[in-house]
Amino acid sequence: MFSEKLKNAPNGYTFDDFLMVPSVSSVEPKDVVTKTRVSKNHYINIPIVSSPMDTVTEAEMAIALAQEGGLGIIHRNMTISEQIGEINKVKLSGDLTIRDVITISPEESIKEAQNIMDEEEISGLPVVMDGIVIGIISRRDIKPILNSDSQKKVRDIMTEEVVTIEESTTPEEALDVAYENKVERLPVVQKGKIVGIVTMRDILERKKFPNASRDKKGRFLVAAATGPFDLERAIALDEAGADIISIDCAHAHKPEIVEFAKTMKENIDADLLMGNIATKEAAEDLMAAEVDGFKVGIGPGSICTTRIIAGVGVPQLTAISDVADVAKDYDVPVIGDGGLRYSGDVAKAIAVGADAVMLGSLLAGTHESPGDVVIMNGRKFKQYRGMGSLGAMTGGVGAGTDRYFQDVKGPMKHAKLVPEGVEGVVPYKGPVNEVLFQLIGGLKASMGYCGANNIKEMQEKAKFVRITAGGMAESHPHDITITNESPNYPTTRL
Ligand code: XMP
Repeated sequence: MFSEKLKNAPNGYTFDDFLMVPSVSSVEPKDVVTKTRVSKNHYINIPIVSSPMDTVTEAEMAIALAQEGGLGIIHRNMTISEQIGEINKVKLSGDLTIRDVITISPEESIKEAQNIMDEEEISGLPVVMDGIVIGIISRRDIKPILNSDSQKKVRDIMTEEVVTIEESTTPEEALDVAYENKVERLPVVQKGKIVGIVTMRDILERKKFPNASRDKKGRFLVAAATGPFDLERAIALDEAGADIISIDCAHAHKPEIVEFAKTMKENIDADLLMGNIATKEAAEDLMAAEVDGFKVGIGPGSICTTRIIAGVGVPQLTAISDVADVAKDYDVPVIGDGGLRYSGDVAKAIAVGADAVMLGSLLAGTHESPGDVVIMNGRKFKQYRGMGSLGAMTGGVGAGTDRYFQDVKGPMKHAKLVPEGVEGVVPYKGPVNEVLFQLIGGLKASMGYCGANNIKEMQEKAKFVRITAGGMAESHPHDITITNESPNYPTTRL
């Protein structure tokens, strides 16, 4: 009976439909641990992942997130080689070892050594013969004799006893070695040959980000998106060193996609995330692909129109909790993707089973998001658009078209596409670390109220109360004209 469809329809809830109930708690927000498992084999220190969208995540965003303990997923609205370039930027920036190390031969003049150091803006050079480090020379060695004896060879004045380290040396050990031997540069050698150099300045710089998300080699963790059937891209991203590959698709609950995910999994070493889904049935069926994490969310995003143009979706708290019920049984991490507007939403998503959240709008408009600041009515904004918007589907390499199963052949015509997203601007928010500070501060406050010391306890202990529209109205500031905008409660509108 058709009428049964409506009568038997379950309720679907989202962030504004619930609040968490304060519990007895001795937990201090400053002491809570927000470390979480973002995929089967990778942990991050804050449960924040950035959306693979062309107005959200390229290398700059991924680096900034990794520095703070989160994870960036490089979008795929670019060629494979461009996407590899973005991965390389992230990996190189988080690598303590400078790989393209500049060296000098012992037979060069000290004048030449000085010139190289000036040009490259460095203060020392390893002296290398047949790949073997036989000395080191610095500006300090050259300076006293440069004018009187500029034809002297590097060999004549270099320091012959060079302290080197192996690739496996940790940053802490490297720092100890540098202090003990009073040296500023440590050539890195493998089987006797130089493969890089570590400087004291870089070791100290790295200490600024104690919370950073890093791979086994100490470089920044990075993820990258691929299409549901784009094996070539997945393999290329894997070879380029992406730690996690994310299948980017509006509706992953399709037997062909599940089947193809198995092939992808067999062909890559990186962890594989799969999504998006929003139901228990989808979670059960996707288990066949044995992927390393699920992304949950059909249509909650701030730029999404899927629920309006297709009439399909599941309110986000219900979607996360339904998928998490299944995923927990199989020990698969869950990422709640889209629809979050405040730090309280991050906390609610975790409390109903998400291990991390994926953010588009909250990170768009930051300094690190791609695109320029535009001034409108005297205020600063940055572009933000859905990957299923006309602009995204016809710009770049048109990644949105297969995300929304609209593989248009030949030149793409706006008239041939059915968009599922919109394009617009969001207020400029400044550096992303300030946004993250507020989001994580809010999450920690929430965990304090709920008596949760860590993410797992938050998932287990947080309890909810169902609220009405009246309850939500009461929750927001009311009966006041806000004159000073809070950093975690934006009031800027167009
Ligand atoms: P927020 O709310 O953080 O959501 O801005 C970001 C998430 O939205 C999804 N996304 C889309 N969904 N049409 C959609 O229906 C689109 O054009 C679109 N673009 C992105 C995506 O999951 C992202 O992480």
